[in-house]
Amino acid sequence: MPTLGFLKKKRTKDSTGSRELDSPTSPIKDGSPITPTSSKNRGSVISKASTKEDAHAASHSTQASKAPSHKPADSMNPSTYPQQAYATPQSSPEPYQQTSHNVPSIQNLIHPSNNQSTNHQYQNQQHASKPANGGVQQSQPAPQQVRVTKGKYTLGDFAIQRTLGTGSFGRVHLVQSKHNQRFYAVKVLKKAQVVKMKQVEHTNDERRMLQQVKHPFLITLWGTFQDSKNLYMVMDFVEGGELFSLLRKSQRFPNPVAKFYAAEVTLALDYLHAQNIIYRDLKPENLLLDRHGHLKITDFGFAKEVPDITWTLCGTPDYLAPEVVASKGYNKSVDWWSLGILIFEMLCGFTPFWDGGSPMKIYENILKGRVKYPPYIHPDAQDLLQKLITPDLTKRLGNLHAGSKDVMNHPWFAEVTWERLQKKDIDAPYVPPVRAGVGDASQFDKYPEETEAYGQSGEDPHGHLFPDF
Ligand SMILES: Nc1ncnc2c1ncn2[C@@H]1O[C@H](COP(=O)(O)OP(=O)(O)O)[C@@H](O)[C@H]1O
Ligand SMILES: [Mg+2]
Repeated sequence: MPTLGFLKKKRTKDSTGSRELDSPTSPIKDGSPITPTSSKNRGSVISKASTKEDAHAASHSTQASKAPSHKPADSMNPSTYPQQAYATPQSSPEPYQQTSHNVPSIQNLIHPSNNQSTNHQYQNQQHASKPANGGVQQSQPAPQQVRVTKGKYTLGDFAIQRTLGTGSFGRVHLVQSKHNQRFYAVKVLKKAQVVKMKQVEHTNDERRMLQQVKHPFLITLWGTFQDSKNLYMVMDFVEGGELFSLLRKSQRFPNPVAKFYAAEVTLALDYLHAQNIIYRDLKPENLLLDRHGHLKITDFGFAKEVPDITWTLCGTPDYLAPEVVASKGYNKSVDWWSLGILIFEMLCGFTPFWDGGSPMKIYENILKGRVKYPPYIHPDAQDLLQKLITPDLTKRLGNLHAGSKDVMNHPWFAEVTWERLQKKDIDAPYVPPVRAGVGDASQFDKYPEETEAYGQSGEDPHGHLFPDF
């Protein structure tokens, strides 16, 4: 039985980024908000997530979405790429505290063994913003420390600072741990809002899925807690801002840049799908850049363990696969469709089915399935997109016999050395101009701050609905 669910908005506005520096230098040690120096035991988590979908009522029309406001403007000539804001650092970021191996470069994605020799203008601009460190190659394996996400944090453990992002049920704050002075991001969800929007099960799933995953390109959740009004999720603070902001500033990404981000997303999807987790909300707003320019996928609000088939309508209109729009049962291949939309948006600056911003029009276009590929799209990219953005599930890449390997082996990704990418041993094309480790939120948009105080005690009619927080 198809059930209706919940749709998120696609952002519309430009991001110019802000320049605020928030806090003094903090000690740099990996670890949880409370115990900075010790590795913690991360028990292996067995998911009990059910495949039964929630029966949420929300309609296509009431959950209106806005599409990107920017059609590509003036030129379809790739030679204009280097002039785009994308490659232009906006501040002089120093000092860098990281001992990064990353000399910004997309070239070693293309020429893995010859990485620093053929920088084009992108890298030259990036070099101007950040001194090279002598090309020290240090792979960064996924942190092996073990996490206890059931950490008993309270609001008193953190000094709440500015808002980093807002969402449907609350907001995400930059916070500083009072114990180790490190900075974290805390997602605050209003229980009443979650209940009203019938997102109780999705919110519990979000917590459970995040606890379960551990991957270099996925956000780390350290713990959760609640008070009478709100739920709190403590995550690593990803300093470089949203890919969305970078994309809007750049208008569109050059082929190799889109390929780099798409490849990191592909590895993350490969990992999630291997655990039978569908992500269901792929879009540039949910892709954050770390201080080195690598991606972290955040927002597991729709992630769910689904071994086979599910029905809930949820996601963001521009990114919905036709089988979701048509309220058919669907499987993890909806994420591969969304990857196609993401790659298209990165290469073009707009989504393929966007049409004046009306969700209904977007749905019609998705069901019609006609995609117009601009002439500047590389033929290999177009071939991949045609194989991802296809309604025919027996043809959609990622859903065939070899699964995600078919995507990874597609000619568009031919230059990608996946093992090195997984180790973050491929330099990112853009290194965000942030001061690492000091709570620099300059890459995030500014939002009006919350007026209602957190940490209230009192009547809590919804507390029992969130036993894991
Ligand atoms: N760990 C994080 N570090 C920095 N910013 C974050 C983090 N998680 C979320 N954000 C910011 O907050 C925004 C909203 O968070 P998200 O989890 O996507 O909420 P929603 O489910 O409402 O979309 C994100 O788009 C991003 O800008
Ligand atoms: Mg989001």
